[in-house]
Amino acid sequence: MKMKRVFSGIQPTGILTLGNYLGAMKQWVALQETHDCFYCVVNLHAMTVMPDAEELRENTLSVAAMLVAAGLDPDKVTLFVQSDVAEHAELGWLLQCMATFGELSRMTQFKEKSREKEVITGGLFSYPALMAADILLYNTHLVPVGEDQRQHLELTRDIAQRFNNRYGGLFTLPEPFIPEVGGRIMSLDDPEKKMSKSNPNPNSYIGLLDPPDTIRQKIMRAVTDSGREIYYDPENKGAVSNLLTIYSLCSGKTIEALEKDYEGRGYGEFKKDLAEVVVECLKPIQARYNELKESGNINEILKKGAGKARAVAAPMMDKVRELMGLKV
Ligand code: TYM
Repeated sequence: MKMKRVFSGIQPTGILTLGNYLGAMKQWVALQETHDCFYCVVNLHAMTVMPDAEELRENTLSVAAMLVAAGLDPDKVTLFVQSDVAEHAELGWLLQCMATFGELSRMTQFKEKSREKEVITGGLFSYPALMAADILLYNTHLVPVGEDQRQHLELTRDIAQRFNNRYGGLFTLPEPFIPEVGGRIMSLDDPEKKMSKSNPNPNSYIGLLDPPDTIRQKIMRAVTDSGREIYYDPENKGAVSNLLTIYSLCSGKTIEALEKDYEGRGYGEFKKDLAEVVVECLKPIQARYNELKESGNINEILKKGAGKARAVAAPMMDKVRELMGLKV
């Protein structure tokens, strides 16, 4: 039986957080056993905020190394850099021409990001069209992402449908694959906000490369809710529910089991144990990351991945050109 296709992407921006890991990367690793997976370091998306060239180069390699360290097997998945496959930019432009100003204006991520920035580039606005191109080039069935990407995926489906209606059914309509628990890991200093590396307060997130003592400090400082009880209730106990989610995903224990374990025990003890669980969860990833950075064979992996990706993207792009009347 032919395996279903999975595609997902991650931006090469400095630090990756526990939110990236639990919301997306962990699913990427699990899916490699049962699906035909394409994973992409989306450096063209990073251009929307005009990064420093040298930093971008370094971050691209570091993120790729982190993905392998987190458990991706380059022999099982296709891991590549977006700009190595020129078809992404080409289809991105064409789909930009099919997405409306109204649709792009409604994207909450654009609204949030443009509020934070002094300079808002055209790329930041049309970013979801490039994301749609990434996904549609590969006949993708499933897209493992965090909750914050749901709206972009809905737009991807709308654009694909529009294309199919107008030019003939070429594109597969992708489904989001968002974990029920962990799809939205919240900030440690404010359970109303998503954990994000762009938060200026580094105590609000756990970086995947944070040393053990930093992790301990950040978790001990994490805000909690009123009352002493430890149970899962995202509405009324947002902070503790978020910590329980992290505990559960890092330890493999269910939330119910954790609620039982901590019955009658206080936040202090809970947080102390949680810190150790997170430290242990990240320890092997950090060790592998350091090895990979030293051995330096990430470039090789990415080169091979780009070749495999191009072999799928090029014929797809050829069909798009044909259908849209771009071949004369
Ligand atoms: P990015 O780079 O911001 O994040 C990478 C992945 O991590 C998830 N994530 C989280 N999940 C749960 N809780 C959090 N606090 C959290 N923070 C981040 C994101 O949902 C994402 O899955 N636009 C995308 C990149 C992209 C892409 C694609 C994704 C480009 N093309 C095609 C899928 C398919 C982004 O900026 O992700």
